[in-house]
Amino acid sequence: MGRIIIFTGKGGVGKTSVAAAHAIASANEGKNTLLVSADMAHNLGDIFQTEVGGHTKKVRDHLSLLELDPDMLMKEEFPNVNKAIGALMGSSGFSAGSVGDNFIIPGFENLFSLLKIRDIYESGEYDRIIVDCAPTGETLSLLKLPELLTWYMEKFFPVGKVMVRVLAPVSKVKYKVTLPTHKAMNEIEEMHGQMVLLQELLKDPEICSVRLVCVPEKMVVEETKRNFMYLNLYDYQVDRVFINRILPDETGSDFMNRWRDIQKKYIEEIERVFTEVPVTKIPWYSQEVRGKEAIEHLADDVLKIPDLFEIGVQSEKETYEVIDGGYCLTVKLPGADSDKVSVAVHDMDIDIKVNNYNRCIPLPNTLRGAQVMDVSFSENKLQISLKTKDVSEEAGKDVKQP
Ligand SMILES: Nc1ncnc2c1ncn2[C@@H]1O[C@H](COP(=O)(O)OP(=O)(O)OP(=O)(O)O)[C@@H](O)[C@H]1O
Ligand SMILES: [Mg+2]
Repeated sequence: MGRIIIFTGKGGVGKTSVAAAHAIASANEGKNTLLVSADMAHNLGDIFQTEVGGHTKKVRDHLSLLELDPDMLMKEEFPNVNKAIGALMGSSGFSAGSVGDNFIIPGFENLFSLLKIRDIYESGEYDRIIVDCAPTGETLSLLKLPELLTWYMEKFFPVGKVMVRVLAPVSKVKYKVTLPTHKAMNEIEEMHGQMVLLQELLKDPEICSVRLVCVPEKMVVEETKRNFMYLNLYDYQVDRVFINRILPDETGSDFMNRWRDIQKKYIEEIERVFTEVPVTKIPWYSQEVRGKEAIEHLADDVLKIPDLFEIGVQSEKETYEVIDGGYCLTVKLPGADSDKVSVAVHDMDIDIKVNNYNRCIPLPNTLRGAQVMDVSFSENKLQISLKTKDVSEEAGKDVKQP
């Protein structure tokens, strides 16, 4: 089974360097490895000191590079998805990254990068796909896209359910959208299927994990903690944290000693917060990490970790558990402030909001129309108990009494 490792973190902390070192370490093991950049500000070319582009380029045995170009992918590889998006746009006024009046999907075009990663995975050509991503905010937007689109399509279109013709007038009135024609609907159905498969892959705990890169400084540590919480909110598995650019432990000037003390404080904080996730430290080298030798050195120096490419930790995924009268959904939100967590349950989805981020989880069929029995948040776990709609009661409603 192949493996996908996604790297993210605050801007400039060393994501690309650490991802590249993983790629080299992987190739050194004789595993066919692809290092792919999903960051629009690509710099694999810089770091490997060779030209890379939108097509895979082999740079040595077992190692290829690729800088994804969502625009090119949309036109050349996914014209059908593009058509489906056209159908969505045409019917709902969804344009320039916005859906409806108050629904915004930033970086929508990056979806094509995810679809390409899935295709590459499915081709089986590579044992390991290492994904160098953009800084935190953009990566979170990217990783939430498949579910967000699934939610959107299920909410506004009768995907996989009833004929368009039957529902069209209802939807028009209720949601102010015009439903697409049958042909366009087929394209939307197809895209819906792709979004579901994409989520299954990216959220498969045996295949995909996210690794966070940070440096020991206050702002970065705060962002890393939030990033970890949001990745949990979206049900992604974070399986390792790298603290990069740690000053060497030698005596030096007062200036250096002060910085060492600052770093020490934040390294301790990271280790306190990430108790369940392995933390790996990387020294601050006297040179930039550029060129194959420098990356090789980083790989040899730091990444000689047994089972580096195994899932570092099997974190608890979100679960639906059977309880009396219904189900309880548990979502892990490590470090979230309970005052900042809110939950709204609608007919077809649950909307969980933490600070400025929200996630609309489409409800499984059995839970559609369910009522909330209880919502609680403790020990970093949000638990939502839902009472399933009583089918016999519902059926009873329609029975006219004599
Ligand atoms: N441990 C280290 N020691 C010395 N220099 C480093 C180290 N890690 C990274 N660098 C240097 O820091 C700079 C930023 O690193 P890198 O490009 O890997 O960060 P990034 O997080 O990918 O940045 P961006 O957010 O711009 O994509 C580069 O010049 C790199 O060579
Ligand atoms: Mg980078």
